[in-house]
Amino acid sequence: MSDRIEQVLNEALAAIAAADTPDVLNEARIRFLGKKGSIQALMSEMKNLSKEEKPAFGQKVNSLKTAVSEKLEQRMAELSAFAQKEKMAAEVLDITLPGTKIDAGTIHPLIMIQQELEDLFVGMGYKIAEGPEVEEDYYNFELANIPQDHPARDMQDTFYIDPNTLLRTHTTAMQMRELEKAKGQLPIKLICPGKVYRRDDDDATHSHQFMQCEGLVVGEHITLADLKGTLEYMANAMFGEGRKVRFRPSYFPFTEPSVEVDVSCPFCNGKGCNVCKGSGWIEILGAGMVHPHVLEMNGFDSDKCSGFAFGVGLERVAMLKYGIDDIRNFYMNDLRFLKMFERFD
Ligand code: DAH
Repeated sequence: MSDRIEQVLNEALAAIAAADTPDVLNEARIRFLGKKGSIQALMSEMKNLSKEEKPAFGQKVNSLKTAVSEKLEQRMAELSAFAQKEKMAAEVLDITLPGTKIDAGTIHPLIMIQQELEDLFVGMGYKIAEGPEVEEDYYNFELANIPQDHPARDMQDTFYIDPNTLLRTHTTAMQMRELEKAKGQLPIKLICPGKVYRRDDDDATHSHQFMQCEGLVVGEHITLADLKGTLEYMANAMFGEGRKVRFRPSYFPFTEPSVEVDVSCPFCNGKGCNVCKGSGWIEILGAGMVHPHVLEMNGFDSDKCSGFAFGVGLERVAMLKYGIDDIRNFYMNDLRFLKMFERFD
C-alpha cells in the first residue's frame, strides 16, 4: 500500500511540475485531489485494511494530500507570476519610440489676413456682412452708379452667367446690398470680406479670382478725415507702428471724391527701396466718400448723412506683409508655400 502512496505522490509531483498553464494545472488538481481522483481512490481502499493498519495508512494518505495540495499552490503561484510577467512584457510601452506626427493643415495666408482685418474692425464696433459671389448686375454695377454702357464697366472685365447675373467683380456689390437693406437707417458701420472674380489672364500680379475686403461707414458728419484716421489705424495694425497714409485723387463711380491710398513703405520706413520703387510709398487700396447719388438710390437723404467706403485687396496686403512676389502662389495649393505660414497661426 505504501508503494501505491509513493507512486501517486511521484505521479502527482511530475504532473504538477509539467503543468505549464493554469488550465493544465487544474486538470492535475482534479486528477489527484478531485472526488474521483487518485487520492480519494486510496482513501476508499482503507475499508479493506485491518483495524491496526488503518490509522497509519490514513495518516500517510493525509500527508500525501497535504504535500500534493502545497505543491499545487506553489506551482499555481509560479504560473500566475509568470503569466503576469508575460502580460507585462507584451504590453510594454517603448517610450523612446518617436510619436507619429499628424500633419495638421494651416490657416491659409489670405484667411489669416481676413481674420486679422475682422478682429481689427470688430474691435472698432464694425459688423461683418456677407453676400453672394454669384451676383446680380444690379448690385455689382447699377446701384454702384455704374449703369449699362458706363465706360467704368471696362475697368472690371466680368464673368457673366447671363445678361443680369455675374460673378461679383468687387466687394462693393455687398456694400450696395447692405446700403439697400438698411432702408435709410443710420448709422452703418461694416466690413464685407470675400472672393471676387475678373476675366483677367493670370500672371504674377493678376488672378481671375482674388479677395477683397470692403469697408463702409454711413452716418451724420462722416468726413474724409474719418476715412484717413481709420485707414491709418488699419495700416499701423497690419504693417507695423509708424505707418502714414496719403491720399491721391482718383476716380471710382461710387465715390466722390475718390482716392487711391498709399502707405509709407514698411520696408524702408519711407526712405525709398526696391519694394516701393524708391518712392517711399506703396499703393494699397481705393477709397472715397460714398457718392451722394449712391446714397440717394439706396434711400438715404444725402443732405443729412454722408459716408466713406474703401476696398482693399487681401492678396496685396499679404504679398506686402510676407514678401510674396507672385499672386498665383495663393491659389496653387503648394504645401511648401502654405506650410511657411504655420508659424503665424
Ligand atoms: N471696388 C473697387 C475695386 O474693386 C475698390 C473700391 C474703391 C472700393 C473705392 C470702395 C471704394 O469701396 O470706395 O477696384
